[in-house]
Amino acid sequence: MRISVIGTGYVGLVTGVCLATKGHQVICIDKQLKIVKKINRMEAPIYEPGLEELLRNVITKGTLVATTDLKSAVMNTDISIISVGTPFRDGKIDLRYIESAAQEIGNVLKEKNSYHVICVKSTVIPTTTDTLVKSILEDASGKKAGEFGLAMNPEFLREGKAVQDFMYPDRIVIGAYDKESFESMKNVYKDFFDAPILKVNLRTAEMIKYTANALLATLISYSNEVAVICEKVGKIDVKEVLEGVTLDKRFNPRVNNQLIYPGMVSYLKAGCGFGGSCFPKDVQALLAFSKELGYFPSMIQATLAINYAQPYRLIERLEEILDTLENTKIAVLGLSFKPETDDIRESPSLVIIKELLAKKAKVIGVDPIAIENTKKKFPQNELLHYSTDYKHALQEADAAILVTAWSDFTKISPQEVKKLMKIPILIDGRRVFDKSSFEAAGVQYIGVGLAE
Ligand code: UGA
Repeated sequence: MRISVIGTGYVGLVTGVCLATKGHQVICIDKQLKIVKKINRMEAPIYEPGLEELLRNVITKGTLVATTDLKSAVMNTDISIISVGTPFRDGKIDLRYIESAAQEIGNVLKEKNSYHVICVKSTVIPTTTDTLVKSILEDASGKKAGEFGLAMNPEFLREGKAVQDFMYPDRIVIGAYDKESFESMKNVYKDFFDAPILKVNLRTAEMIKYTANALLATLISYSNEVAVICEKVGKIDVKEVLEGVTLDKRFNPRVNNQLIYPGMVSYLKAGCGFGGSCFPKDVQALLAFSKELGYFPSMIQATLAINYAQPYRLIERLEEILDTLENTKIAVLGLSFKPETDDIRESPSLVIIKELLAKKAKVIGVDPIAIENTKKKFPQNELLHYSTDYKHALQEADAAILVTAWSDFTKISPQEVKKLMKIPILIDGRRVFDKSSFEAAGVQYIGVGLAE
């Protein structure tokens, strides 16, 4: 099929490149000429494992091209997939980029005689596609929905694993205005054999996306809430508690009585809280939208409140040990919101750095690739330094807090910590280290959800 993808952020570009890899003819559209040129030079403008290699293949094969010319792209394709940003601003989701994409596509549809499907992939609050997008398209094109197709196809891509998630999806959700729109979208995914396709209406597709992100975020906050209770009681490890709970087959299905996912169930883990460009934004947008509908969603509100408090709890525990943070030096291990990315948006590390500085501690931020992004937010000064070398940071620090479970950090041995630090104190904000072996080596170990 011939497909236009509007917006070349991590969702748009991954979608375009993966669909071109599957044999579709794809045109990626972006307003920024700089980005378009970069894509055509076979350079991925974002860091996403595996993406640049696929990009090189599809540009070389000629199945993908980037342009700033939306009109000719829409004229020469059968489907337009809208993947523009939907940021959270001033207490609600900002749909201005969706509106302008719909307007521009609608203007082209006025002149286009053949059937064209418009598919929203961006995360939008329920009703956006079947009211706002539909009416903009109808007004601009002078046609009625049905004369053109309309679909909503949410993405479930994790940063750092986006290519893998696109190529091997757990499910494909297609919200369709009518049968013809659904059939066209089904054709887009005809080579993703194993993935079940769920056919729903437009607003259900939008709601599935929000519900999925809010549920995953809620599992994290629930784990963090249980962690606080465990800490208050003492001598209970939240990790064992959650393991004991999730060995239930209802959480952890088995095949021939063998666990499919040995170890902890994803997202039911205590830690520093969730960050990134998706969970915080989407949960806030769902909260704001529900309030607009006249309903106060207390569970969703609690998910956010627990997440807000979680990084501060780590600082409190550190303060309990050091008495005061004034004039101490703290190594913050990990700046990105999760491993394998340089993205620091809404990262718990930002709250931790800010709070440590407010309490007059000195900070060394350690990360393999996210230092430059963090410096834009917190420039280096006499109280705040950055390093890619955790050994150097540990030598300098009075205590260390593990915030992001980069593999370099999770491999740190108890002996190394003992040798490098003057008085070894380690706060394990991700529960990746083994308490007893660190204690046996003479390290004071403090884990989230675990207290004596
Ligand atoms: C998330 C969803 O997982 C994707 O399915 C979705 O498509 C995407 O948002 C989106 O809406 O675009 P992402 O933000 O890339 O993907 O990252 P995750 O790997 O889900 O992690 C989100 C946050 O939760 C991170 O800060 C991570 O550290 C935290 N997390 C994750 C935990 O604190 N505990 C866990 O057990 C798992």
